[in-house]
Amino acid sequence: MPSATSLDVTAIRKDFPILAQQVHGKPLVYLDNAATSQKPKCVIEALTRFYQMDNANIHRGVHQLSERSTQSYEAARGKVQRFLNAANTREIVFVRGATEGINLVAQTYGRTHVGAGDEIVISAMEHHSNIVPWQMLCEEKDAVLRVIPINDRGEVEFDQFEKLLNHRTRLVAVSHVSNALGTINPVREIVNTAHGWNVPVLIDGAQAVPHMKVDVRSLDCDFYVFSVHKVFGPTGIGVLYGKEQRLEDMPPWQGGGDMILSVGIEASTYNDLPWRFEAGTPNISGAVGLGAALEYVESLGRDAIAAHEHALLELTTERLSALPRLRLIGTARAKAAVVSFTMDGVHPHDIGTILDSEGIAIRTGHHCAMPIMELFGLAATARASFGCYNNAEDVERLVEGLKKVRKLFG
Ligand SMILES: Cc1ncc(COP(=O)(O)O)c(C=O)c1O
Repeated sequence: MPSATSLDVTAIRKDFPILAQQVHGKPLVYLDNAATSQKPKCVIEALTRFYQMDNANIHRGVHQLSERSTQSYEAARGKVQRFLNAANTREIVFVRGATEGINLVAQTYGRTHVGAGDEIVISAMEHHSNIVPWQMLCEEKDAVLRVIPINDRGEVEFDQFEKLLNHRTRLVAVSHVSNALGTINPVREIVNTAHGWNVPVLIDGAQAVPHMKVDVRSLDCDFYVFSVHKVFGPTGIGVLYGKEQRLEDMPPWQGGGDMILSVGIEASTYNDLPWRFEAGTPNISGAVGLGAALEYVESLGRDAIAAHEHALLELTTERLSALPRLRLIGTARAKAAVVSFTMDGVHPHDIGTILDSEGIAIRTGHHCAMPIMELFGLAATARASFGCYNNAEDVERLVEGLKKVRKLFG
């Protein structure tokens, strides 16, 4: 494996207690990071500390615990703002995850700006969470969903994208990185081109934020969403970034406590950004865990993480390409460390089961991206996805496991 990495992976692995276990009598190799990441001790400890010392509801209390809890929750927002290089904390909305962030935009921006005959543009490689909310909106509004085609490598066809834009386009919603193929999309260029038509862009960054530096101001995107559980934090919390002017221009989504300034029986007035979009008691401990997770990522360095994972991608691609009757699915020139593949004569589910018996966790199935599977003429693939704690030994264990699969199936 190329040595161009400044990550001390041996030390990093010690930060993740879960990795030290055996599965079916073999040391665990965790290669399902695109589904969710494991949690470092600092995140687990931050959650424990919060529940042992600070737990209280936020914003409403005058007592010490509520103040501490509110302070931690809002401090996490500040950390996200700096992490994404957003202009201010008014642009950071806490949601349940990437899925909820996209639904929020569809139900607020979408409902007020999309009408009959208008168009939404997505790509052919989107996760279901960046397809179905737009289908629902289009159905409700009698609008049209347009799809950017992709080539055999799994890259968007940019000239086709340019042709899709017109005066009826109301939004472009694309993934930064594909969870099924690993393709890194040219999101900066997509934003530039869409803005040429005055069309806002939502970027689904669920697979990007854990693996590379994301700067929403340099991307100039209008919305950016990600899920915290994929970035070493807890489940049940995510982030919607929205440009302040865009968010100001959107009606609230869910109604309830905290999203209002005053409530009368006839009418209510709504809270300022970002709380206007955070109805009800939020995931307070999730925000605390999120803060710890982002600090952890920063302590490793996002460029170092990206370089390390790129080296793992190159090694895995080389080693898997040498295996007989194995086909890599998704060979984009710009790729993150997600390796989808099939093996002649072996169902992906069997690959996953045999690897599991070797202590190796990968994902098999359609990866919540059925349209892209269909384009490749497949029902499913096997997918190994890497994180900062994976190493060359993990790749070798995967290769040995796949050799065993081949041997069993002939
Ligand atoms: C590209 C992409 N978008 C969105 C999601 C949805 O994330 P969540 O289920 O955490 O909301 C995922 C999850 O795998 C994903 O990979």
